[in-house]
Amino acid sequence: MNMLRNTVRHAAKTSRTRAFSTSVRTTTTRTGTTSAKLGAGGFAAGAGLLMMNNTMGKTTSTEGSILSEINERLKNIERMLVSYQGFLGTIESLKKSHPNNLMAKHFDAEYFGNLSSDLQARFAKVCASGAENADSGMGCYAMQPDDYDVFKPVLDKIIRDYHKIDGEVKHITNWNLDSVKDQLPAGGRLDLTKLGLGTTSMRVRVGRNLASYALPGAMTKEDRINLEKDMIQAFKKLIADPAYGGRYYSLTPDTEYSINEEKYKELVKAHIMFKDMAADSYLSSAGIASDWPYGRGCYVSEDKGFIVWVGEEDHLRIMCMKKGTVLNDVFDRLSVACGVVEKNASKFAHSEQYGYVTSCPTNLGTGMRASVHIQVPNLTSDGSDKKAKAVCKPLGLSVRGMGGEHTPIGADGTVDISPSARLCIQEAEIICALYKGIEALLVEEKKAKSKL
Ligand code: ARG
Repeated sequence: MNMLRNTVRHAAKTSRTRAFSTSVRTTTTRTGTTSAKLGAGGFAAGAGLLMMNNTMGKTTSTEGSILSEINERLKNIERMLVSYQGFLGTIESLKKSHPNNLMAKHFDAEYFGNLSSDLQARFAKVCASGAENADSGMGCYAMQPDDYDVFKPVLDKIIRDYHKIDGEVKHITNWNLDSVKDQLPAGGRLDLTKLGLGTTSMRVRVGRNLASYALPGAMTKEDRINLEKDMIQAFKKLIADPAYGGRYYSLTPDTEYSINEEKYKELVKAHIMFKDMAADSYLSSAGIASDWPYGRGCYVSEDKGFIVWVGEEDHLRIMCMKKGTVLNDVFDRLSVACGVVEKNASKFAHSEQYGYVTSCPTNLGTGMRASVHIQVPNLTSDGSDKKAKAVCKPLGLSVRGMGGEHTPIGADGTVDISPSARLCIQEAEIICALYKGIEALLVEEKKAKSKL
């Protein structure tokens, strides 16, 4: 209720400071239709015009059409205040109680009030996860491939805040390691044995979405099933190719590729398949976990080193993994494989400004997470990842548990580390950053030993 009063007060205040002429705006929407919009100043502006007409006693046709537009807009504002009262109130209080929830931090009630009712409904869905999960660090998910452009006034602020980018965001895609030669060891090989490591679990993944479908949060059950069918056609080509081979496992009931519960559990345990997303309240609130298990599955290459998840947080999570010693092996294989998947399937959603479009703004740009499992027993001697995280943060590295996000570290002090940056950094730079990060972290691990 307080929020409602604040919004009305805010609208009235804005209208006082705004000239009437700026309150009615004509905008051309992306679909090409032209619609008139009245700013938050509509309350006072509308009242002013009504008064004018009352005193003069008659209405010209131009005034008449402006009046009906104002009326329409007032009705919209009223509808918005009633429909979104709880939502707006929650966000307003989150701004104070959870300043790290970036959606709440940058949410602008005036901007929201000025959106058409269709766009308000769309944007409310984008923000639902953060409104329902106060502890969100990000707090929003894109629902349509063009959301980052449509809702740019708010989303751009969130993106720049999260990715720590000053000024305009302009992402460049570049997988070519030759172009970052100066950052590589001589010979261009990112060889972990040179850092004193033995066989290491290495994994590089990217999030990708098909441009022709809504993003996972806004997909219907039918969309999910159809997207999986499209991908199966693409996987058939991979399966027929000796460089890939392998097979597809589907969780969708009653398909040629369906697997039973037991096989599913086995694949999850082997870190091949993803977990039931319903357990993730962020994904559930966003609608990303809906219709489980329809449209969910994964392709696994013959050598199990190349995997594509279908229907998780993004349409596709494409990844290469290997227990080995040279990072180039997984990086170069993924680079080629992404091109093959796009060619066999259909165009990936891509933004001129933000690079590859992903559901979560944290993954925008490269959509890449390049990680290794390394043992840092001294930095984790208290059984937690606290010290390792403190050391890794200034190195630009994220620390995760052995089962991925929000999972505990290994009992032997093994952690999953990866460069944190995804946007406005090139793919080739990420893999170099991982190599350099490991080197720096191992120095810190040695220091921690001498302190013990
Ligand atoms: N939505 C969650 C939050 O805002 C997770 C964000 C990052 N993780 C992810 N899997 N996209 O904290």
